[in-house]
Amino acid sequence: MQQTRTRAASQTKFLLEESQLPRRWYNIRPDLPTAPQPVLHPGTGQPVGPDDLAPLFPMELIGQEVSEEPEIAIPEEVLELYSLWRPTPLYRARRLSEAVGTRSRIFYKYEGVSPPGSHKPNTAVAQAYYNKQEGRTRLSTETGAGQWGSALAFACKLIGLECKVYMVKVSYEQKPNRRSMIQAWGAEIVPSPSEDTQSGRAIRAEHPDSPGSLGIAISEAVEDAAGRDDTAYSLGSVLNHVLLHQTVIGQEALAQMELAGAFPDVVIGCVGGGSNFAGLAFPFLREKIAGREIDVLACEPTACPTLTRGLFAYDFGDTSKLTPLVAMHTLGHDFVPAPIHAGGLRYHGVAPLISQLVRDGLIRAEAYLQNDVFASAVLFAGSEGILPAPEAAHAIHGTLQVAKAADEAGEERTILFNLSGHGHFDMGAYDSYFAGKLEDVALDEDEMNRALRAIEGLPSPA
Ligand SMILES: Cc1ncc(COP(=O)(O)O)c(C=O)c1O
Repeated sequence: MQQTRTRAASQTKFLLEESQLPRRWYNIRPDLPTAPQPVLHPGTGQPVGPDDLAPLFPMELIGQEVSEEPEIAIPEEVLELYSLWRPTPLYRARRLSEAVGTRSRIFYKYEGVSPPGSHKPNTAVAQAYYNKQEGRTRLSTETGAGQWGSALAFACKLIGLECKVYMVKVSYEQKPNRRSMIQAWGAEIVPSPSEDTQSGRAIRAEHPDSPGSLGIAISEAVEDAAGRDDTAYSLGSVLNHVLLHQTVIGQEALAQMELAGAFPDVVIGCVGGGSNFAGLAFPFLREKIAGREIDVLACEPTACPTLTRGLFAYDFGDTSKLTPLVAMHTLGHDFVPAPIHAGGLRYHGVAPLISQLVRDGLIRAEAYLQNDVFASAVLFAGSEGILPAPEAAHAIHGTLQVAKAADEAGEERTILFNLSGHGHFDMGAYDSYFAGKLEDVALDEDEMNRALRAIEGLPSPA
């Protein structure tokens, strides 16, 4: 026992066998202290039923969206695909801790080992699988940074579906190699706003230079799916079923922390729509709701401060108001965030489940400037070796803030964060950082108030 503990204390990587892959997803809904607000029909303002969502999603995913089962079995075929890269490693960040001289113990779960390079295929393969089961032959989706588009293209290729990706224009231009990767997996890709949909054409007519946003790209992908029987829409974040599929991350991390003989005082992730954060944090929040003390921190950019400054309100998930209304923290559905390099964090809303947990005081949030985030990314690359995605670097920066505060208070904490992806396709962003060309953007109060006017008149959450 003593020997095992000593070994764990000097170990760097904590690995699980393929046979230890979680066989069930964890559903946080039945454990929530406050029941989630109903999803409302955009036309009637009444709660939506399964039939309203059937043109966009397969029935199994609609069921998972509202399921009160505490766990949902992962289909064998999905497990088989997961085994291409899962279980993912958990690292003890010894060299990072030494580099900053902290007394705290830092661990990170690394999701960048998947073929597309992030956590996103955890839900992409599940969504492609259920769609194929129910007879769809084609999926449409949006992508910001390109990680989600790559993940869905990868999943569709392996499962045998066609795929069309609407990629936010600014990212399409910043990341030509993500584009090629999506094409290599056989998907069609266009910059959004595009000429291929009514929503895209309307935005281009009004704002010919629009850099695009996730909200706009979602409108295009939803319109595409709604107009074709063979096509379903696939979303890479925000929805309950997406967060559910990501919980393999936290379940593995719980087992790996046990191997390390440790349990986190603090759990940290970056938040765009919220899926990687939820994936790591929800299995730990189950422990927190049951009474264990854990500080759970969500990290976001100051350019798109949804959790730290947005309102908890009913809003549309997209710019053209095609999606149902959900109660979430939002900056307003027509808000177009500044073109910062963490493209995956440029979303006006955030997952309703995370919003509710923030409202209930179980999760707290902080926002950071991009130059500070890149400084932490470079420090991490120089000590741990992995070059992080700019999105994931927000979680690294949050971790270093927590460790610094603990050192100043004379405390020693155990910190676990999610390194949601690598940054090998983000070198343009690193180039700009090294050239001193990255602009620090904090959302202007007037612009925020303007954008929030878009939700005036919508129903209010209970
Ligand atoms: C590496 C990485 N991390 C995080 C995110 C943010 O998404 P989410 O909040 O759903 O995890 C993205 C989105 O594209 C991403 O590519």
